[in-house]
Amino acid sequence: MFYKLAQKVMFQMDPEMAHNFAMTGLKATANNPLNCFYAQKIAAAPVEFMGVTFPNPVGLAAGMDKDGEAIDAFAAMGFGHIEVGTVTPRPQPGNDKPRLFRIKPAKAIINRMGFNNKGVDNLVKNLLARKSKAVVGVNIGKNKDTPVEQGKDDYLICMDKIYPYADYIAVNISSPNTPGLRTMQYGELLEDLLASLKIKQKALAEQYKKYVPIALKIAPDLSKDEIEKIADALIRNKFDGVIATNTTLSRDGVSGLANSNETGGLSGKPLNELSTKVIRQLAQCLNGQVPILGCGGILSAQDAMTKLDAGAQLVQIYSGFIYQGPKLIEDIIEAYRSRIAK
Ligand SMILES: Cc1cc2nc3c(=O)[nH]c(=O)nc-3n(C[C@H](O)[C@H](O)[C@H](O)COP(=O)(O)O)c2cc1C
Repeated sequence: MFYKLAQKVMFQMDPEMAHNFAMTGLKATANNPLNCFYAQKIAAAPVEFMGVTFPNPVGLAAGMDKDGEAIDAFAAMGFGHIEVGTVTPRPQPGNDKPRLFRIKPAKAIINRMGFNNKGVDNLVKNLLARKSKAVVGVNIGKNKDTPVEQGKDDYLICMDKIYPYADYIAVNISSPNTPGLRTMQYGELLEDLLASLKIKQKALAEQYKKYVPIALKIAPDLSKDEIEKIADALIRNKFDGVIATNTTLSRDGVSGLANSNETGGLSGKPLNELSTKVIRQLAQCLNGQVPILGCGGILSAQDAMTKLDAGAQLVQIYSGFIYQGPKLIEDIIEAYRSRIAK
């Protein structure tokens, strides 16, 4: 009820202004009684994933809380995990505005934010200040002005700094808004990145006496052959998990609608089937050896169950949360509880 009203107001505003307005409100109310406007009591529905116990199967996808400023507020809504980031070693402003667009009739979003964030040191401060016990994943990336050939170093810098404070680490090589980033999904660049991150993880696990799993976040715009190669690399490098998927470059399902010609990644309902297809193909190749976190176009509890049927063990939402509000979290958890009770 409150969300419907808030959404009415926010949908009158420029999308990025609405986002900043909401984040300011969430940050200010996270740990005081005013969080009653969005806090939800959610029944426990624990899921073991990558060796971590998640309180329930629904998380907030990366990009909403890039700097980890409202973790406690999102935890109060009932998210079992919150993926903060994408964070880069140095702060950067992202692309020029406007860079965020709603396509309301299709329940979709196009964004070309370009990893606007306050840098990894600032994120560490916010991770230290959080009060909630929710699982927090940190999604890491490279700065725009770091050449792709040296991109690996940016991931290693971020990993080094956030390792003691993260419950898992997500390696984002699939944003379409950082030039060249997606080339890291292929061949030598991928092999080198995965192997280097695993070596770093081993050293940090010894140093901190704590094993923090690492997952790779991939694009939906991959051929069957490319998915097979990525799956093979994940297995060989003993990666802990994979997140499928990021936004798409495709415009299927939105052509002709206002804003559909904007450059950037498309998310929401039109992404649903494409990301499910990638999850299904991945699941076939991985054969249970690397667990899958499903993301992309989940607008209902049924959509989330379809991702689980395709082979995912956990799900994340971003656009669905904007269009449906926090009730979607509760609906998915209820559907999941019914599913496991059968
Ligand atoms: C405005 C916006 C910003 C995003 N920023 C990031 C990001 O920084 N890092 C990332 O890995 N994914 C980012 N994403 C992608 C989402 O995490 C998610 O993978 C994608 O939106 C598909 O899920 P959805 O259909 O539920 O939105 C962003 C998505 C949106 C809409």
